[in-house]
Amino acid sequence: MINNQYDIKDPSLASEGKKRIEWAYREMPVVRLIRDRFAKEKPLKGIRISACLHITTETANLALTLKDGGASIVLCASNPLSTQDDVAAALVEYSIPVNAIRGEDEKTYYKHINVALDNRPQLTVDDGADLVTTLHTKRAELITDVIGGTEETTTGVIRLRSLERAGRLKYPIIAINDAQTKYLFDNRYGTGQSTIDGITRATNILWASKKVVICGYGWCGHGIALRAKGLGSQVIVTEVEPVRALEAVMDGYQVMPLIEAARVGDIFITVTGDKNVIDKAHLQVMKDGAILANSGHFNVEINIPALESLARSKRRIRPLVDEYTLKDGRHLYLLGEGRLINLAAAEGHPASVMDMSFANQALCLEYMVKNRGNLEPKVYPVPEEIDKQVARLKLNSLGINIDSLTPEQKEYLTSWEQGT
Ligand SMILES: NC(=O)c1ccc[n+]([C@@H]2O[C@H](COP(=O)([O-])OP(=O)(O)OC[C@H]3O[C@@H](n4cnc5c(N)ncnc54)[C@H](O)[C@@H]3O)[C@@H](O)[C@H]2O)c1
Repeated sequence: MINNQYDIKDPSLASEGKKRIEWAYREMPVVRLIRDRFAKEKPLKGIRISACLHITTETANLALTLKDGGASIVLCASNPLSTQDDVAAALVEYSIPVNAIRGEDEKTYYKHINVALDNRPQLTVDDGADLVTTLHTKRAELITDVIGGTEETTTGVIRLRSLERAGRLKYPIIAINDAQTKYLFDNRYGTGQSTIDGITRATNILWASKKVVICGYGWCGHGIALRAKGLGSQVIVTEVEPVRALEAVMDGYQVMPLIEAARVGDIFITVTGDKNVIDKAHLQVMKDGAILANSGHFNVEINIPALESLARSKRRIRPLVDEYTLKDGRHLYLLGEGRLINLAAAEGHPASVMDMSFANQALCLEYMVKNRGNLEPKVYPVPEEIDKQVARLKLNSLGINIDSLTPEQKEYLTSWEQGT
């Protein structure tokens, strides 16, 4: 039976949401092609999906694609502060139940995940692995129906690999994040641009001349550093991996331990997927007026309890800016309650980049159904043919052609006999 239960902020926001979903759709040509095919072929006919994703205009277009493919899909949010309430309302009007309210507390967040799971999923779509973890720990009786799942982000993939290593992963999951057409574009250009966008919208700061400290030089860190540099900031990178630190040096950034950077930075951005990266010792030496933002998946990268313990008082000085006055008189500014700032203060990644991430999602869900029963309970990479297909379709949509290997080149590149 289809679970139609939904819980959203305000149904009257639907018409605004529909227009924004339509606007994003213009920038999602690959998803459009997939949706047209899904509508004809119905590859997900009768399949129940529970999806835990940021409720944004791009997610709406993925959900509509899966629905047109024949699935019955119920959505919940993958972060309490990323839901776009107008999009949630629009989706409900499109007969897709959504359980998500921007700013919901933790109890409501997990209640909504449980309602999504009441759909008795055959496929799970997750972003950060909260839905899959709840399914494995609290709702394990539902797992017998599950064919497989997909995971969108770095942090979720790390959690699922750990579940697999512990021998406790109960069904196959494809790591969407690890597709080249995902992390090279979504994490780098998507998070790069939208993190800067979120911080700008929250604070209206001028980036030129600011010392911007970026903690973590992974794919997201690469993008944020590139964009901050382009805006005239002096970028400092902190890392724990020597190769990535070296790469940051050669890319032209200053690299130093965070305890040194903490003394000079104007803006701090964490994007590591790690915990307490900005810790009490760092907060204790920061300059008066320093701004703190996180763009990693969970709100654990900045030690907020430590910040609270150092503070004498706290006030909300702008809608997404909390001013902490410390006992020694300094002020530190925490953006978006330490939640991923590109979604808390802006609209998340632009549609053009989510086009590729969500094309991978749709095609991998189709792949799961086609390979039903043939996959083991493991974390799988995105099949190479899907990754390449998404790149080809995106290039086509941009009107860009590329060369192909001649038979002679193909032979040369697969042989060992020919040298100097
Ligand atoms: N905001 C968004 O929309 C968005 C989008 C994609 C990914 N993410 C999230 O962003 C985070 C990073 O993703 P990624 O793809 O860049 O991951 P990644 O694994 O490529 O990079 C993370 C980097 O952080 C470094 N790191 C870990 N602990 C550190 C510490 N204590 N100090 C300094 N550096 C440290 C690692 O060495 C690594 O180089 C994850 O939580 C991911 O889920 C967010």
